[in-house]
Amino acid sequence: MSIIVKNLTHIYHPSTPLETVALKDVNLRTEKGQWLSIVGHTGSGKSTLAQYLNALLVPEAGRGEVSVENYLSRPGSSQLRSIRHTVGLVFQYPEQQLFAETVFEEVAFAPRNWGVAEKDLEEVVKGALREVGLSESFLDRNPFQLSGGEKRRIALASVLAANPAYLVLDEPTAGLDATGRKDLVKLLLSQKAKGRGIVFVTHDLEIALTASDSILVLEGGKEVVQGDPEKIVQALSQNPVRGLCLPDVLELAVLLEQGGWKVPLTWNQRKLFQSIVKRVRKS
Ligand SMILES: Nc1ncnc2c1ncn2[C@@H]1O[C@H](COP(=O)(O)OP(=O)(O)OP(=O)(O)O)[C@@H](O)[C@H]1O
Ligand SMILES: [Mg+2]
Repeated sequence: MSIIVKNLTHIYHPSTPLETVALKDVNLRTEKGQWLSIVGHTGSGKSTLAQYLNALLVPEAGRGEVSVENYLSRPGSSQLRSIRHTVGLVFQYPEQQLFAETVFEEVAFAPRNWGVAEKDLEEVVKGALREVGLSESFLDRNPFQLSGGEKRRIALASVLAANPAYLVLDEPTAGLDATGRKDLVKLLLSQKAKGRGIVFVTHDLEIALTASDSILVLEGGKEVVQGDPEKIVQALSQNPVRGLCLPDVLELAVLLEQGGWKVPLTWNQRKLFQSIVKRVRKS
């Protein structure tokens, strides 16, 4: 059981002067319990692709295929509801997602919609808040009057509350400080360990390399390369992608390698340091 995307093409405003090809023949596959990152420069098509994964966008005839756990995403299909229940999308900007007057109503919306009984809602909402590290004191607060980081947590809790098999997160680390980013990655890794599939959209190659089982790199709506972190490192160090910065440590490793040093192409500071020390000691 997987999410499978085949030859997906998306064109905004086709046959008008505003026509933009946002995705061109994109393919991907991921499973429950796996972490897939989608990385790319601004405008490379990441958010457009994310919206296909939970059937917010649906492939038009002749523009490719998206299936989720064997539900096929087709215009007007009765299976779209099942796809939306199976895949939870956390939007790029929490303000796009939040709408309710209290945190309770916000987080209760999706489980209520998917049939959780009123008597069980409070426990489900409290459980989702606990998962994102927020206390019950938030229940009566107005989501729009929270800090950026808290809004992001509420947006994530409101998706988790529906217990989706896959979580798609569009740039979830934007606006978070280093601790916030670390906490979020830890939280998502624990969700993955529980068997959820994680699809993580990001500019941050370092997080993608560290946490992912596989990575899809997009540029101008097209796949540049796809594979495990080692494959991505090899590809990007040989052919850099515009606007996608290698982690500093990896950049140093590439420079050392190009200078004739046999060091691993790693983004792990300690591993690179140990390899340099070993070489220096030998010489
Ligand atoms: N609603 C829209 N109408 C027209 N064009 C759009 C629309 N949304 C996105 N685009 C265009 O489609 C392309 C891909 O946009 P998308 O938002 O998917 O990129 P992205 O990789 O998520 O970018 P970012 O990193 O800035 O969030 C861009 O050229 C963008 O200008
Ligand atoms: Mg985007």
